[in-house]
Amino acid sequence: MPTINEILNTMDYGPAPESQKEAQAWLEQRSRKFGLFIDNQWTDPGETFACYNPADGSQLAELTQATPVDVARAVTAARKALPAWQALGGHGRAKIMYAIARLMQKHARLFAVLETLDNGKTIRETRDADLPLVARHFYYHAGWAQLLDEEFPGHRAVGVVGQIVPWNFPLLMLAWKIAPALAAGNTIVFKPAEFTPLTAMLFAEICLQAGVPAGVVNIVTGDGRTGEAIVGHQGIDKLAFTGSTEVGRIIREATAGTGKKLSLELGGKSPFIVFEDADLDAAVEGLVDSIWFNQGQVCCAGSRLLVQESVQERFLKKLKARMDNLRLGSPLDKSMDIGALVDPIQRQRIAGLVDSARAEGCEVYQPAGCVIPEHGSWFPPTLITGASTSAAVAQAEIFGPVLVAMSFRTPAEAVQLANNTVYGLASCVWTENISLALDVAPAIKAGVVWINTANQFDAACGFGGYKESGYGREGGREGMFEYLVPVSEDARPAAPTFKKPAKPDTEHTPSTDPFAVDRTAKMYIGGKQARPDGAYSRAIHGADGKFLGEVGEGSRKDIRNAVEAAHKATGWTKATAHNRAQVLYYIAENLAARGAEFAERIAAQTGTKNAEKEVQASIERLFYWAAWADKYDGLAHQPPMHGITVALNEAVGVIGIVCPNENPLLGFVSLVAPAIAVGNRVVAVPSEAFPLSATDLYQVFDTSDLPGGVVNIVTGSADELARTLASHADVDAVWRHDGSATGCAEVEKLSAGSLKRTWTGGAKGRDWFSTAQAGGRVVLAHASQVKNIWIPYGV
Ligand code: NAI
Repeated sequence: MPTINEILNTMDYGPAPESQKEAQAWLEQRSRKFGLFIDNQWTDPGETFACYNPADGSQLAELTQATPVDVARAVTAARKALPAWQALGGHGRAKIMYAIARLMQKHARLFAVLETLDNGKTIRETRDADLPLVARHFYYHAGWAQLLDEEFPGHRAVGVVGQIVPWNFPLLMLAWKIAPALAAGNTIVFKPAEFTPLTAMLFAEICLQAGVPAGVVNIVTGDGRTGEAIVGHQGIDKLAFTGSTEVGRIIREATAGTGKKLSLELGGKSPFIVFEDADLDAAVEGLVDSIWFNQGQVCCAGSRLLVQESVQERFLKKLKARMDNLRLGSPLDKSMDIGALVDPIQRQRIAGLVDSARAEGCEVYQPAGCVIPEHGSWFPPTLITGASTSAAVAQAEIFGPVLVAMSFRTPAEAVQLANNTVYGLASCVWTENISLALDVAPAIKAGVVWINTANQFDAACGFGGYKESGYGREGGREGMFEYLVPVSEDARPAAPTFKKPAKPDTEHTPSTDPFAVDRTAKMYIGGKQARPDGAYSRAIHGADGKFLGEVGEGSRKDIRNAVEAAHKATGWTKATAHNRAQVLYYIAENLAARGAEFAERIAAQTGTKNAEKEVQASIERLFYWAAWADKYDGLAHQPPMHGITVALNEAVGVIGIVCPNENPLLGFVSLVAPAIAVGNRVVAVPSEAFPLSATDLYQVFDTSDLPGGVVNIVTGSADELARTLASHADVDAVWRHDGSATGCAEVEKLSAGSLKRTWTGGAKGRDWFSTAQAGGRVVLAHASQVKNIWIPYGV
């Protein structure tokens, strides 16, 4: 008698093809040629490009390469449609979005087949993952449209948004972009990827059926040139981009100084950590979903396996056995696990990286029985072992079905390896020990952590990256804020201008005070006063020209020292919010004790009659952020799974802050206090014109239990120091609010290097006395990033 395994081994899958008849007929009815969808009309096709079925190389259709003139027409239509779309109100928009969701479900099969034909991903995925998530996204956001006024008071839509997506999840990315934008009342110019535009064409027809008013959704096709035209168009108020980190950088640079709101969802090299006590069989299944889902063409693919040394051999054996059973072939066959790669160019790229690993002596495992079809672009499931941590395959986003495996000994080493990447999109942690899982999850620098699961998504849970994986979130409440602007921003005044005193007392006659000692204010670095590296200083004169003192002329080296000190002060980020609040209250208390002295200093520098009011407001502001410190809680989402998703508001890291010139004390406190309230460490450049109010704070900090390195102060030229901060690879964010439009533009441009986050005020000022303009969750959102930790249970 054969054993059950022997019987199973002799059994094979028969073909189970999904019919493509309806999708091909749909293409035929449109003569396989598409114009652009602008203002609810189809334009005549212009210069065209072709899209292909990657599974067999056959041409599916021709699409129009939209020119800058076409893009401009789409932007004009979107602008024109904006007032009526907003006047429709939340309920009006909710009804239309609900209709879209229903229609997507009704036509789910056609969408799924068309997506599979165009992209090469298996029908199992388009049918069971992409389409249900797309519909869920529209339903969920129809809900936000309905609740907008109640849940997002004091906000308005951004305006006309430009959205550019890649080819790996064409329809899902469309939903992630379009649904929140519509819910918030924006109008849209959307561009699908040139490899995979077809489901967006079908979606345009759905918009017509659902009653989306003309001009609200415009869809233009084309390659990077069309993308560039959208990015560069002055009529676009916000850009949302998903794609490669390289193009993300280009977009960041191109939009610097334009005031366009920007969200970037970029690449990843996500770790998949398996601890020795994990359910290894479940982890293998998780890994299959993680790296072979969509042929590994997933920004959050678990492409780096980190497995504990004690179980490495056993785990890799199980993994290889599972790889041997993966079925690669026609994506329309319902029993296939692995489909085709989107384009031969991707295949070449992946093959090149795998060859480089071979050449470096790595072991490359590919199932011997995996038969590659004759036509189309395919790559077998691949496992690479023996790569060094710095090898190209261990660092670059391969974006294919290629897993790189490494081992670790301790949880600390696992975290260190996990974070050894410029990216920070997602990660998986497999262990049966909840305490270990929840200890490791916050230590991983990534926007998503899946515990004992992989590649889970839901509209209610924000998705987005840390570090060079970009910024901004899609989904959840935080995703809605990407498409909204606080109305208080519209009320901001112009930045005040500062004239140097007409006749500064350059001679500054020596003091007649017998106890006078020269006191050049130092830098404040690592909790200690430090002389400027260059030993230069600058004289500060009062409004009346009187010499008030000298401050150090900060240099590159001072910033480097300050950043290093800030990096070391990790204890602050780990401290409890209660402790951070206590320190902020204590700073307020000690400032109050010296209130008169601080008021005098402000008056001497600025000539204001409001100095006491500014000190009072600064004390109140410290109380305000102390109050927030232990109330900026995260959320516990309940997505449609057996489990919870915990959304934590985490600190961004080290923030460089260039303070406003006006209100030298209140401006400084209003920016530094919220940053440290949520656990960031700061390198602050105080008011260039009036820095003495900040340098006077050293003693207040020293007596308030503020640990060294949490706040570092470097005085000097705002332009020079901002430039250094914005180009420093270890600074995670730069805020600049000194009213310099060119300076802010430069910060944004330089931030592209390491894709650090920015918060800049441009040429506008801010009423620092008003919490509407200088407080609230908007500021906290700049100071934090949301990490979603998925915790299934009972499985
Ligand atoms: P890509 O980033 O060039 O393309 C994404 C989208 O941006 C497409 O719609 C494209 O037309 C558009 N685009 C290209 N250049 C542009 C520009 N200068 N301005 C505005 N829009 C522009 O990605 P590509 O070339 O398709 O793939 C290359 C590599 O990028 C992949 O191998 C993968 O490593 C990575 N990638 C990562 C994705 C992710 O989700 N993380 C998605 C797609 C690609």
